Formats: sequence, C-alpha cells, structure tokens
Amino acid sequence: MVDIHCHILHGIDDGAENFDTSFEMAKLAVESGTTEIFATPHANIPDTECINTSATVSEKVNSFNEILVREGVPLKIYTGCEIFAAGDFIKLLKKGNLLTLNNSNYVLVEFDFFEHHASVFMKLEELLSEGYIPVVAHPERYAFIEEDENCINIIKNMGCLIQCNKGSVTGRFGHSAKFIAHEMLVREQVDFIASDAHSSRMRTPILTDAYQMVCELYNKDYADLLFDINPRKILNHEKI
Ligand SMILES: [Fe+2]
Repeated sequence: MVDIHCHILHGIDDGAENFDTSFEMAKLAVESGTTEIFATPHANIPDTECINTSATVSEKVNSFNEILVREGVPLKIYTGCEIFAAGDFIKLLKKGNLLTLNNSNYVLVEFDFFEHHASVFMKLEELLSEGYIPVVAHPERYAFIEEDENCINIIKNMGCLIQCNKGSVTGRFGHSAKFIAHEMLVREQVDFIASDAHSSRMRTPILTDAYQMVCELYNKDYADLLFDINPRKILNHEKI
C-alpha cells in the first residue's frame, strides 16, 4: 500500500513528536503492509510558524530515508505537504516554496473546517487553472460537506480528487464523518484512503483495518484502487 497523507516527519508540525515516534511509525507502516509514504507535514497554516518550505521538507525526507536504509526498514518516504489553502499558497506553489506530491502536479490541500463552500470552490478552481490537480484532504470532516453533500459532486466535476481518512472510514472521527465517508464510498467518489497519521499510538499509519473494512463492505478491487493503485499513480506522475 501507498499512504499519501502522513505526518511522519518529526519537529516540523503537530505530527511525530520526536525521532523515535517517526521511526516507530515507519515500522508500524511496514508491519501493516505499507511500502511507500508521502510525508505531508502541514504547510502554510495562517498565523503560525508552520510554513514548511520545500527545502525544509526535502532535507528531512532525505535524511529519514538514509536512516531507513541504514536500519533495514523497507519503506521509502516521498516528499509532499498538506497545504492549507490560504493567502498566497498558489504563488508559493508556483515559486516552488511549497511542495506538490513527489513533485507531480497533484497537490494535497486542506481547508479551514468551517470554510464556506464558495471560498473552497474558488480556491480549487484557481489551483486547477494553474495546472495543478487538487487532492482534497478529508472532505468528510468539513462542515460545508456535512451541510450539503452535493458539494462533493461539484468538487469532483471540477476535476479534483478526494482523499478520505482511514479514521473516518472506521469511525474514529465520529458518526458524521463515518456516514459521509461511506456515502462517498458507495457513490465511488473517493480516490484515496490515507492514514493522516500523527503518531504511533493514537492516529497511527496502520491502514489494514480500513483496508479490510473496504474489502468486506465493498470489494477487494475497490480497496486496492484506493490504497494502492491510485496512490501509486501519483508516485509515477500518471493520470488518474
Ligand atoms: Fe493531515
């Protein structure tokens, strides 16, 4: 499996709190069948120090990969970030200050949980017009989707992709997020399921429980598409 959303790097956002946690997360991922992870620290969060430029993330990914090789952990980390869509984020992307996923044209993007749908649509259109393909992180957790699920159709019809959190699929984020995630799964609107892991204990990188659930409730081909085939297309810069 390939995890496209994971806060595995330490000392960079609210993810892994130290090196030991990062390393523990890597081992958990491997034990549960993940072979590649996109490191996606929060970036461009307003009113914080959480800028996380390309140079910072790339440097941390390189040194973590070196350690994984040295320690014999069969996991490869790729660069990325979870870009908070605010301010000059598109300008920063174009200048190369913010990272796409593995330097592709796919961009993992998040919004304020209470952002108005019109503002979300406008930012997504702007990204698309600049040639990026937005991968909308965990829409099942946003208020505007809870209020009107048709917004997902609009986002999909624009040409954006949808990433659900494994915790939403299994119910960790509550009834509403689980309900919406499964509504989207039934309608085949989901393109990826990722861990959005922040630690090795609470929000872990283990994907197996959600994978099994999708196999049982839907089918194995669908699970493979969401956990492996589509994520791998981002790795290889292929069209989805
Ligand atoms: Fe995240």
